[in-house]
Amino acid sequence: MNPKPFGHTNLTVTPIGLGLAALGRPGYINLGHATDLNHNYDIAAMEAHAHTVLDAAWEAGIRYFDAARSYGRSETFLASWLQTRHIDPTSVTVGSKWGYTYTADWQVNVPAGQQHEVKDHSLPVLQRQWQESQANFGAQLNLYQIHSATLDSGVLENTAVLTELARLRNSGTLIGLSLSGTGQADTLWRALEIEFDGKLLFGSVQATWNILEQSATAVLTAAHQAGLGVIVKEALANGRLTPRNQTPSFQPQMQTLRQLAQQHHTTVDALALAAVLNQPFVDVVLSGAAQADHLLSNIQAININWQPELADVLLGMGEETAVYWQTRSNLPWN
Ligand SMILES: NC(=O)c1ccc[n+]([C@@H]2O[C@H](COP(=O)([O-])OP(=O)(O)OC[C@H]3O[C@@H](n4cnc5c(N)ncnc54)[C@H](OP(=O)(O)O)[C@@H]3O)[C@@H](O)[C@H]2O)c1
Repeated sequence: MNPKPFGHTNLTVTPIGLGLAALGRPGYINLGHATDLNHNYDIAAMEAHAHTVLDAAWEAGIRYFDAARSYGRSETFLASWLQTRHIDPTSVTVGSKWGYTYTADWQVNVPAGQQHEVKDHSLPVLQRQWQESQANFGAQLNLYQIHSATLDSGVLENTAVLTELARLRNSGTLIGLSLSGTGQADTLWRALEIEFDGKLLFGSVQATWNILEQSATAVLTAAHQAGLGVIVKEALANGRLTPRNQTPSFQPQMQTLRQLAQQHHTTVDALALAAVLNQPFVDVVLSGAAQADHLLSNIQAININWQPELADVLLGMGEETAVYWQTRSNLPWN
């Protein structure tokens, strides 16, 4: 896996990156998350487990790593791995996000009425979380993203926040935004209009794009053409595009995916990831694996010989955007 330019930024990425959402905390929405962690939520055991998966990623050549303030201890686990493995800072690209505060108190499930993470895109949260991320990574933090920016949150109209982000950008950190929900495209179109000092504020975007949810294709193409680095997350639809998905209504599609995977001597998850890797607007696709063997299965995507027949079948599986996001919001924390 060779590093390549991240859009028109001065950073490099590998075609596959590793996301730490499932590795940094006991509870997450991915299918089978509790099994992946062997129901062992001891902090030292979780840190060792995260390091095992990070070692496997490193061995496989992965050089982009994605964390967030709200992914439990993802930042500290990544920082301790970089330090204990003596990773040369110039050999990896590290991204994190601000805007959600982790509030699950190391629980898999939170009591009714409480939230796992609290969203607040205000200036005080940016300032506090920037200091926290700096304490973990220092100059090794290459990319700082607004976590799940939406038009509703008002963050793209908040002059104080945007000015502070421009200041961070001018002092050397790439500024990006991640997206979520049915409004991904509208949010990114708006973000592409924001300039400071004659330059686009955002140098990167992280969006959900997979064979079931392709609604951001046009705006991601525009972002790519404008020189932004494009990161795709949830390429496996939170595990729905893996053999773990036993939902009866999805079995016809799963059967097709299994047959195609067999014909191409690969796995269902690698096939779904290959569909993302082969989109011209994509720079890096995140694997959200919390097990080293799943990561290795995901990485097979690199070797798939992408053909128009594959594209026809896989890209024909798209769901209605509203249905896709409703299904995602019904996934249980585990
Ligand atoms: N708003 C945002 O900014 C935002 C939101 C969501 C995610 N993200 C980022 O994107 C990253 C990836 O997202 P994601 O975790 O939702 O990714 P995903 O790739 O859509 O889903 C990962 C899920 O697929 C499962 N899986 C993968 N390979 C498998 C296999 N061979 N067999 C069975 N199951 C398999 C994983 O299980 P295992 O855990 O067992 O491997 C995990 O449950 C996150 O880590 C995070 O960094 C950002």
